[in-house]
This record gives sequence, structure tokens and C-alpha cells, in this order.
Amino acid sequence: MIPSEMLEELKALLGDRVSSAPADTYVFGFDASIHHHKADAVVFPESTEEVAEIVKLCNKYRVPVTPRGSGSALAGQAVPIKAGISMSFKRMNRIKEVRVEDLQVIVEPGVINDDLNRELAKYGFFYPPSPGSGKVATIGGMVAMNASGMRALKYGATRDYVMALEVVMPTGEIAHFGTHTIKDASSYQMAKLMVGSEGTLGIITEITLRISPLPKDTSIVLAAFEDARMAGQTISDIIAYPMIPASVEFMDRVCLQSVINSRGVDFPLVDAVVMIELEGTEEEMAEDLKKVEEIARKNGAVDIRVSSDPEKMKEWLEARKAVLPSMSQYARGKMFMVSLADDMSLPISKIPDAVYGFHEIEKRHPHVVLGVYGHAGDGNLHTIFLIDPRKEEAWKDAEKMVEEMYELVIDFGGTVSGEHGIGITKAPFMRIEKKDSMELMKRIKRALDPNDIMNPGKNVEWDDGILVDLRYPVEFGGD
Ligand code: LAC
Ligand code: ZN
Repeated sequence: MIPSEMLEELKALLGDRVSSAPADTYVFGFDASIHHHKADAVVFPESTEEVAEIVKLCNKYRVPVTPRGSGSALAGQAVPIKAGISMSFKRMNRIKEVRVEDLQVIVEPGVINDDLNRELAKYGFFYPPSPGSGKVATIGGMVAMNASGMRALKYGATRDYVMALEVVMPTGEIAHFGTHTIKDASSYQMAKLMVGSEGTLGIITEITLRISPLPKDTSIVLAAFEDARMAGQTISDIIAYPMIPASVEFMDRVCLQSVINSRGVDFPLVDAVVMIELEGTEEEMAEDLKKVEEIARKNGAVDIRVSSDPEKMKEWLEARKAVLPSMSQYARGKMFMVSLADDMSLPISKIPDAVYGFHEIEKRHPHVVLGVYGHAGDGNLHTIFLIDPRKEEAWKDAEKMVEEMYELVIDFGGTVSGEHGIGITKAPFMRIEKKDSMELMKRIKRALDPNDIMNPGKNVEWDDGILVDLRYPVEFGGD
């Protein structure tokens, strides 16, 4: 519980924009991860100054504070795991300045990714990172996670676009990191340290992002394979040609079936589909299309579909983005998607072996169905676990599988998270991957957040396993 004096001070500061009503503290205890923990109070600041005042109170009373955007985090980053304050950025969602001549836009953290792109399109610009959750994901959450999505192969991730940040530090001081210039070699790159820090080092209150001109034209190729390894080979061959498409996405049969069930989209139902998004002038695209088709055929594609029709491309792209929320439709309500080892990133050439290896592991664990899809062109896979979350044995199987899959990922020289971050669910494996820098990272955390109030217990601080504070009605009998 938070001290009643603190709640009074919050009320004096925020009026009805603070709530300790059970309906709020319960709901704000969720994100899109497997975890849940009730907050003590929820706050809705409207300015940087209010954020700073709230953080000062948290620091004074030693109360944890967990910032959140739309709560689409998949590893528990927005769950107030140690209770305290959940800070929503719903009311800080202004696009403050569009400075196209300086290739930048300045926004508050609660701006939604797709809303930003709708605004930038009026100027012929866009913000390239394109997460599957773009309809809800906030820019603040994307910076906190170093999110990316479908265009990272050609355009990079959020980290490559953050020019400057305003951050309320854990002691309540307001810091400005980075610059409004394209180049910046002026001392430590603190803005980059904040990218991906998941609200554990400070709270981001203003973001300056680099923007890019919209591409001239786009086309999409869907290439269908009855052998997932040959789909992987096609991806390697396209990149080695050399060609860097805007995106190269992979979907296996389980994912295709799920999204066909949920949306009735016209994707071929095969072992694997590779979806390639090309950009450029008409002539450039014609040449690239010819080459992509040739490579796909050589690798045994059983169906190749091409479209430059905006409606059709939108349907395919939206269906691709809907894979994750469609997964629970695979077995029509009998098995449910749970977010476990969901976004490993590998050297691109290891994709075919990794997909094969994950399915070999799946065969040894009868309570789990695994769907594999993702941004295979940049080496980032999504491995989605379908289980009956009421069954203890399903969780135990899944837990074992996660361990085996991450062992493979680390052996292949990969990382446990490409874009969804660490939070709680991936912390035990990040500890293994980053074993020689863990102590240094903990020292940074302690130096910036001496009273351990800033989204505490997560990421470098999480020292427990993964099946903790689950949102599901499952009892573990102990073992
Ligand atoms: C996707 C999200 C889940 O790519 O990262 O679908
Ligand atoms: Zn993704």
C-alpha cells in the first residue's frame, strides 16, 4: 500500500487524474504478457512537470512507479510487479512539432505509432519502424522497448531514429539527452542508453524522432513453400543477391491457419509463406520482382502471388500484423497464445536451422503447439506458444521448451530479444546471454536509481524464474 499522505499529495497535484479504485488498480496490473500484479494507484499526468512531481513523491516515499503506454508489452514491462504507482501516458499524446526540413518530429510519449504516420503522410514522410501492434503501440513504449517490426532490415529499429529525449530521472530531475541535429558526437550517447531501458532508468516525457520520405511505389510478393527450410533459403538467397527489400516476413502453417481462421485472408495454406515488400521506382521494382520470383522458383515455391494494388497490399500487411492476436484462433478456443520466448534474433543465415531446431524441440513437448513467424529477413523470429493455460503440465512443458530454445539461440550467436524486450519473462535467459555485462548494467541501474523506485524488479533486477505472478487460473502443485 502507498502511504495515505502520499495519496493526498497526489490528489492535490492531479485532482481526479489519480485513482486507487480497485477497478483501475486491477486493470492497470495487466499488459500483454503472462504476468499480472495489481497497482496501488494509477496516475494520468498531462505534462513533464507533473511527471517530475509524481516521481519526486515516489522517491520521497520509496514507492515504485511503472510507466505505461497502451500496455501492449509482451514480457511484463508495464506490469507493476512490485505494486506502487502505474503511470499512464494516455493524456500526453500530442504531436508537438513536425520539422520536415530538419528531418524530425517532436512528440509526447503517448502518441500512437499509426497516428503519427497518418500525420507525417500529409508531408510525404513516415516513421519507418512498423510494429505489428502499430494501431495501439505508443512511441514512448516503442522507445522504452527499442521496438521495430517489419522494416528493420532496410530502415533499422527505433534506436536508429531517436535523436533527442527529455527524461524525468528517478530522483525527479528533468534531463535532456541527444540533440536536434542529424550528427551528434558530443559526449556519452545517453539517449541511446535510455532506448530499450524499459522504464527502469527514467521516464521518457518527450521524444524527437528522425523521419524519412515515403517510398515512391511498393509491391508485395507472397511466395508459398511446402518446405519451411526452402522458404528460409529463399530469404538468404534474396539478401545475398544482393537485395535489401523493405521487409521480408516469414509465416509457418500454424500462423497461416490462425490468421486465415480469424480474418479469412487469401493466404495460401502451406508449410511456409515468405512475404517480400519491395520499394522503389516502377523500373527498379520490375527488376527486383523478376529476381525475387526467379529465386523463389529455384527454391521450389509452389505458389507465387504479386500485387501492387494498394487495397490488396493493405489486406496482406494487416493480416500479417494480425498474426499474434489471431493465434488463439488456431485451435478455435482450445489452446491459447501465451507470450514466452517470443522474439529471438539470430544472424540471418541461421534462420533455416533455427526454425528446424525449434520444431524438433516442439516434438519432445506434447502440451505445446508452436507457431513460428516473424521478420526473418533481419533475423528476428516470433515463436508463439499455444497451450491450455489452465494446465500445470502445459506450463511445465512450455517452460522446458523455452530453456531449450534459448540454449539453441545463444549457441547460434543470437539474442533472446530482438524487439519486445526483457521485462520479466525473458530476464532469466538474458542473464545467461549477458553474463559478462550483468554486473556493469546493475551498477548503471543503481547509480541512476539509488532508491530503486523506477519500474523495479525488472530486466537486470529480475532474479526469479518465468512462471511467477501469472494472470491465468492455474495452481502449481510444487515439485
Ligand atoms: C509482430 C509483433 C508481435 O511482429 O512483433 O507481429
Ligand atoms: Zn515483430
